[in-house]
Amino acid sequence: MADRSTVTVRPARSVRGLVRIPGDKSISHRYAMLAAIAEGTSRFHNFSAALDCYSTLGCVRAVGGEWKRADDGAIEVQGRGPRLSAPAERLDCGNSGSTMRMLSGILAGQHFESEMFGDESLSRRPMARIMAPLSQMGARIGARDGGRPPLKIRGGSLKAIHYMPEVASAQVKSCVLFAGLFAEGETIVEEPIRTRDHSELALRAFGAEVGRTGNIARIRGGQKLKAIEAHVPGDLSSAAFFLCAAALFPDSQVTLPGILMNPTRARLLDILILMGLKISVAQLEEHHGELIGAIEARGGTWRGAVISGADTAALIDEIPVLAATAPYTEDGLEVRDAKELRVKESDRIAAVATSLRKMGAEVEEFRDGLRIPGRQRLHGAELDSFGDHRIAMAFAITALRAEGETTIHGADAAGVSYPAFFEELQSVTE
Ligand code: S3P
Repeated sequence: MADRSTVTVRPARSVRGLVRIPGDKSISHRYAMLAAIAEGTSRFHNFSAALDCYSTLGCVRAVGGEWKRADDGAIEVQGRGPRLSAPAERLDCGNSGSTMRMLSGILAGQHFESEMFGDESLSRRPMARIMAPLSQMGARIGARDGGRPPLKIRGGSLKAIHYMPEVASAQVKSCVLFAGLFAEGETIVEEPIRTRDHSELALRAFGAEVGRTGNIARIRGGQKLKAIEAHVPGDLSSAAFFLCAAALFPDSQVTLPGILMNPTRARLLDILILMGLKISVAQLEEHHGELIGAIEARGGTWRGAVISGADTAALIDEIPVLAATAPYTEDGLEVRDAKELRVKESDRIAAVATSLRKMGAEVEEFRDGLRIPGRQRLHGAELDSFGDHRIAMAFAITALRAEGETTIHGADAAGVSYPAFFEELQSVTE
C-alpha cells in the first residue's frame, strides 16, 4: 500500500479469517437523526465508522443535537425534542445523500430556514424526489437547476399527505415519514417496491406508532420520541465485499459476527447462496426490531445470476461488487432495472463497465444495467475510484483474482462507508 489515496492490490490465493464489520450506515444515520428530536440522551454502541454518518452527526450538532463519544466507545446524542435550533451556518452533508434527503424531512418541520450543501458528487445528485413531497406538505424548498444541491428549506407547519413516489427509494420514504412526525394528520407513503424498512423500525424503537401493510407505511403527526440505548448491527453492504471475496476461491472461509439480517436487506444472502457461496448464519438475535446474526461463508462453485425488478432494488448497494466480480462466475451476471445506479455517488454502471474493460473484461452496458459474461480472465490495471467508496472497494475484490497487480487511485473514498476496509482486506487475504 502507498499513501491512502492510492492502493495497490495483489492477487491472492485465498481469503480466510474473521472480520468485525462496523455498524450499519443506514441504521446509524436514522438513529442519530431521531435521537436529536427525541427526549433524553440516546446511546449507540457499534455506531457506524462511516464518514457519511459523521456528516449526519455534524449536521445534527449544528441544529442543537450535541453528541460525544463516551468512554465505552458509544455515541451519545442529547435529544432536543421536536424543536431544534436554527443553525448558525450552512449544514455540510459531505458525500452523503442519506444525510441530505432524510434530514430534509426533519428540517421541513422546523420553524427556521436552513441550507444543506455537499461535495462535488452530492451536488450532482437529484433532490427533486424529496422536494416534491415536502412542498406538498407545506415546506418551502429550493435548489439549484430545479433539483440539485444546495437545498434551502424554510420549514413550518406541515400537513399530512398520501405520497406515492415514482422511484423505489428508502431515503424518500424516510424523508416523508420523518416530516410526517411534524404534520397535522396521518402521512402515508405507498411505495412502488418495498424498500429497506429501517426508518419504520427506528421510529418504533423511539416510541412512535408506525402502521405497515405491504408497501404502505403510515405515521400520525405530533408523536413524541423517547431516547433509546441501542446496538447497531454490522453493515451487510460492507460485509458484501468479504462475501464476494470468499466466493472467488473454493477453499476460502470468512466469519463475520454480528451482521444485520433485516429481511429487507438480506436478499443479498439468498442471491449469493443461489450463486454457489456456502453460507451459514448462527446466533440470531433481535435488537430494536433489527435482526442480527453471525455469518460464516465458504467458497465453492461460483455460478451466475440475473438480477432485475424487486431484486435490483433490494441489492442496489451490492450490485457494484457483484458486477465487479461477475467475470469470474461460471455463467456471468445480468443486471436490469438499475437506472438508479446512474445517480449514486458516481454513475456506477459506467464506473463498473469502464473499470472492468480496463482489466480486459468483456462487458455490455445498458441504460439500466449490465451484462457480464462469465469465465473471463482479467489482468491487473490502473483504476480510478471515480470518488465512489463502493467502486474503490468493489475493484479491490476484483483485483484479488486478476493476473498481476491492480492500482486504485482515489481509494480513500472507501472511508465514506468503511474507513478500515483495506487494512481488513489485507488481514484476511493469503
Ligand atoms: C439508503 C437507501 C438507498 C441506498 C443508500 C442508503 C438508505 O438509496 O442506495 O446507500 O439508508 O435509506 P435510495 O433511497 O436512493 O435508493
